[in-house]
Amino acid sequence: MALTIAVDGPAASGKGTISKALAAHFAFAHLDTGLLYRAVGAQLLQGADPLEAARSLRAEDIDADALRNSAVAQAASKVAAIPEVRQALLDFQRAFARRAGGAVLDGRDIGTVICPEAEVKLYVTASDEVRAERRYLELSAKGQDVTPEGVLEDLQARDKRDSERATAPLKAAEDAILLDTSELSIDDAVARCVAAVDAVR
Ligand code: C5P
Repeated sequence: MALTIAVDGPAASGKGTISKALAAHFAFAHLDTGLLYRAVGAQLLQGADPLEAARSLRAEDIDADALRNSAVAQAASKVAAIPEVRQALLDFQRAFARRAGGAVLDGRDIGTVICPEAEVKLYVTASDEVRAERRYLELSAKGQDVTPEGVLEDLQARDKRDSERATAPLKAAEDAILLDTSELSIDDAVARCVAAVDAVR
C-alpha cells in the first residue's frame, strides 16, 4: 500500500535521519523539504528576490551539500516566513507526497499543512542541548568553523522564528505520534517509527 509519511520537528531533532531510514526500509521516495527553503535562502544571500527564486526553483538543481551551513539555514528560516514563498513551494511538495510508490516528507508543516491526510504523522523532538551537540558534530566534521554555543544559538533562533511565524508555524499535528529522540539511539528511534508505520499498513 502506498502511504504518505509526514515527519516534522525542529532543527537537528533526528527527523532527517529517521526519514531517510524509513524511506529506505519501505522503499519509498524521500523529500527533505528544508532543502527547498535552504535553496531559496541561498539565493536570497546572493541578492535574488526570494519569491522569484521560489517560483523558479527546480528540485533537480538543488545541491544539498552547499546548503548545509548556518548562514543558509538562517536565510532559509527568514524566507520560510514569507507566505507567498511557501505557497510557491506547495504544489511540488503535494505532488511528491502523492507518488504511487509511497513517500516520506520531512519538514516543519508536513503533517499540518502540506499533507494533512498523511496516513502516518511523526513529530520528532530532542532537547536543545542534544540537538546542538548533534549539529555541532555534523558541521565541524565537515570542517566548518563553528562553536557549540554558536550552533545552539542558531538552532534556538530558528526554532523561535519557525514556531512564531503566522503561516504554517512549526507545530505537531493533533494526530501526530510524538517521539523524543534525546535518549534514543538512531536504531531505536527508527525501529519505533517503523513500528508506527507497520501499524497502519
Ligand atoms: O530542516 P531544515 O533545517 O533544513 O530547514 C531549514 C529551514 O527551512 C527551517 O528552519 C524552516 O524555517 C524552513 N522549513 C519550513 N518548512 C518546512 C521545512 C523547512 O519552514 N517544511
